Amino acid sequence: MRTAADFNQFYEVADPWKIGQASFRDRVYRRLLRGMVHGRTVLELGCGEGHLTEVVFDEARTVTGIDISNVAIERAKARNLSNARFENSDFLRTSFEGYDLIVALECIYYLSPDEQEEFFAKIVREHTGRLILSAPIIGENKFRRYFTHDQLIATFARHGMTVAKFHNLNISRRDLPTTAAAIAVRIAPALLDWMPEPLIYQRLYMIRIM
Ligand SMILES: C[S@@+](CC[C@H](N)C(=O)[O-])C[C@H]1O[C@@H](n2cnc3c(N)ncnc32)[C@H](O)[C@@H]1O
Repeated sequence: MRTAADFNQFYEVADPWKIGQASFRDRVYRRLLRGMVHGRTVLELGCGEGHLTEVVFDEARTVTGIDISNVAIERAKARNLSNARFENSDFLRTSFEGYDLIVALECIYYLSPDEQEEFFAKIVREHTGRLILSAPIIGENKFRRYFTHDQLIATFARHGMTVAKFHNLNISRRDLPTTAAAIAVRIAPALLDWMPEPLIYQRLYMIRIM
């Protein structure tokens, strides 16, 4: 696992992943998640500086945002969001009990394969309800090993989780046709779910845990 010090190094600059500038990403997440979180109690794992807490989870009854970086958490707290509280903690050491919904957006691939197993086992042990998880499904790139769709589905099944739905989040731009596809989905985000799997960079999974 990457440590708090590793992530604090990323957060030496504000918004290291330029999340605040990714308006299309906000639009897609809002379209998929806002209705689902309305009036619910949400645990947001790896919340970073609280950008999605503010723009996607604003209609949740309450949001508890957890991040391993104390620097990110201080920035999240400075947003003064009326429905949110933020905690500096490793989410593998945080209780998952008592929430309607747990969201883990673009953060579990920082865990080692063993820690990912620990994460899913902990979710099943401590949470009943929905888990929303997003991650790259491109397999591997020069930075790290992510997931494939089939690997994720096998992992969910191994832990007895049921995938209710999944949605594509964005296109993996590599050449002219994938760039054209990326432009098309910007104009009409509803097209995303019609795009074939080899074109997809990240996918969002809505999982039921009994
Ligand atoms: C790429 S950022 C994504 C932030 C936010 N979820 C989003 O999508 O805008 C990943 C975040 O996960 C946090 N993170 C990674 N591993 C963690 C862990 N074990 N416990 C808590 N936070 C963690 C990092 O500090 C970082 O803020």
